[in-house]
Amino acid sequence: MIVRKTRSELEKMRRSGLLVHDILQALGGMVAEGVTTWDMEVAAVKMMEDAGAKPAFKNYFVPAAGERYRYVLCTSVNEEIVHGMPNPKRVLKAGDIVSIDTGVSLDGYFGDSAITVGVGELSEEAKKLLKVTEESLELAIDKVREGNRLFDICGTVENYVVRNGFSIVREYVGHGIGTQLHEEPQVPNYVDRRNENPRLREGMVLAIEPMVNAGKPDAKVLRDKWTAVTKDGSYSAHFEHCVAITPEGPWVLTRP
Ligand code: MF3
Ligand code: CO
Repeated sequence: MIVRKTRSELEKMRRSGLLVHDILQALGGMVAEGVTTWDMEVAAVKMMEDAGAKPAFKNYFVPAAGERYRYVLCTSVNEEIVHGMPNPKRVLKAGDIVSIDTGVSLDGYFGDSAITVGVGELSEEAKKLLKVTEESLELAIDKVREGNRLFDICGTVENYVVRNGFSIVREYVGHGIGTQLHEEPQVPNYVDRRNENPRLREGMVLAIEPMVNAGKPDAKVLRDKWTAVTKDGSYSAHFEHCVAITPEGPWVLTRP
């Protein structure tokens, strides 16, 4: 069942969405050669504490990993797709791309968003990967309208990414969000005809999160049980926003 939210619930999700936005902006601004992904974790913990927010990822149980996640951020560098773990030994260098993914809850309502940021000068391919992945999310956001169907969102991301010569990760998907970090429906970044194709209705909120590989789509998980990487070692990018369906059109809760 897809839970629909009232206006006052959406206002609460808006607060957590804006906090996530502020945190990602601050962390994105920190990204530079010599900075570690652990430095970002420390800064994020502080911002969440200052805001009186609960981290959404820390202690979140993920069945595929068989354990709880231990950090407030996922920091996935280069060929890492998602669930990269902040690490004081992971020093960023020029040419890297780092996906910063985080979520919080305030007053019981969740926000979740991700950006991918380049360090110094990037290769032409990496620049295009970031651009195409972010654009695929923007095109999908515009489909988050009453009367459209879930596959309109999935297909929009898929078509745009494939047309630009990149590939879609299939193992990880977006999701509904509200009083839980992960709610129905799953939001794959491709049309998965094994799933239902519900109509979008006012009050639904979707976390849309394209994960796009420069090379082949195949992913594997490292022995740390969390870090998902591309099998071919190609770079992977990730952007995410929470979007509500309103009579006025798509409302992106995770940006001003
Ligand atoms: N943004 C991802 C998601 O929405 C990461 C959360 S996984 C966690 O699924 F384990 F870190 F919480
Ligand atoms: Co998410």
